[in-house]
Amino acid sequence: MRNTPISKSVIDKAIEKFAIADFSKATIREVKAIAAEAEEASGIEFIKMEMGVPGLPASAVGVQAEIEALQNGIASLYPDINGLPALKEEAARFVKAFINVDISPEGCVPVTGSMQGTFASFLTCSQCNPQKDTILFIDPGFPVQKQQLVVMGQKYETFDVYDFRGDKLKAKLEGYLQKGNISAIVYSNPNNPSWICLKDEELRIIGELATQYDVIVLEDLAYFAMDFRSDMGTPFQAPFQPSVAHYTDNYVLLISGSKAFSYAGQRIGVTCISDKLYHRAYPGFEVRYGGGTFGTVFIHRVLYALSSGTSHSAQYAMAAMMKAASNGEYKFLNEVKVYGQRAQKLKEIFLRYGFYLVYDNDLGDAVADGFYFTIGYPGMTSGVLAKELMYYGVSAISLVTTGSKQEGLRACTSFIKDHQYTQLEERMAIFAENHPVV
Ligand SMILES: Cc1ncc(COP(=O)(O)O)c(C=O)c1O
Repeated sequence: MRNTPISKSVIDKAIEKFAIADFSKATIREVKAIAAEAEEASGIEFIKMEMGVPGLPASAVGVQAEIEALQNGIASLYPDINGLPALKEEAARFVKAFINVDISPEGCVPVTGSMQGTFASFLTCSQCNPQKDTILFIDPGFPVQKQQLVVMGQKYETFDVYDFRGDKLKAKLEGYLQKGNISAIVYSNPNNPSWICLKDEELRIIGELATQYDVIVLEDLAYFAMDFRSDMGTPFQAPFQPSVAHYTDNYVLLISGSKAFSYAGQRIGVTCISDKLYHRAYPGFEVRYGGGTFGTVFIHRVLYALSSGTSHSAQYAMAAMMKAASNGEYKFLNEVKVYGQRAQKLKEIFLRYGFYLVYDNDLGDAVADGFYFTIGYPGMTSGVLAKELMYYGVSAISLVTTGSKQEGLRACTSFIKDHQYTQLEERMAIFAENHPVV
């Protein structure tokens, strides 16, 4: 057995300090803190793959527009609760340009990141009908969204889509929807953590069932058009970002500035509510508010109560970024393609040393190289692998925390620096020697 790059006692001590009995359940923040502590104690650099934070400079288009807006004095004014009119217009145009879906500016509502978009959507969806009190997750997923439901005291159900791709999705979804308690279905596409991308035939199943069972689809497009297998970067021209919006009227699209525009710090996104859903009245609103439609309750009741709108200057930034993208002047995908290039190099190293990709295909097509990928090692559970890799100075989160039923880890490419491929190569060579696959 060769010595591990970081001494075991350093890692074990750090883990003990955080009182983590089961490493498979360690949160992103805990893994990050343990890695930081071990790095400090050992003086050895970690290859950090646990956090999903954009590692690139913010879009210059956004920064410039925001500075100008601030210099023009908008900071002293409350933003329009419905959203900055220019942003609403540009968001509707962006949706047409990159998804090929028609939506009115009225339904395009700025939020302080998709995080607030899902929180407000979960609340609104849960208030529509008293008998529909549960949100259904097509997992794996973004753990904080479940925390949002726990915070608001709402119920959720979940299944791992791993064994239910393609046609199998229909029966699985119907099993839940037939019970009549589901108000909304949520998933991300491309998916955090697995980077699988649901295909049109799967989105059609979700959309048609949403119409049939009268449930709302919350389509989280946090990684907008970042399936780099096809170039979705030309406005008003196919291929487009796939969307359930082509298959049902019961949808809310959540578009984030955080990853596609590297604008996470300013907390800006747009929630795009379909025209039909925006104007639909629900019995639950009558009882609670004395009336209202999905759109008016979402904006004038829920968002108003949460934050009275979204940071004024960030709305100017988002409007400018969407406008420049739809004009074809700002090739936003070119700026983030580097995540895919990193994933390709990292995956190649892991695979060469005996690892395998956990979520590895979309109905037979190899998953794209992008922001995240998932890895497993023969004979190791999620918790064992996550902890073991810490001894080799590699930090990643266990899939257990994402609602996945598979054994493995989520690795994020956003913080990888150029010199770290050699580091990973050296460390995984030792890992493979110490853990021969029989
Ligand atoms: C699937 C998913 N949804 C939403 C978010 C949060 O987006 P925002 O920064 O716009 O709140 C993330 C961020 O990691 C994510 O991975």
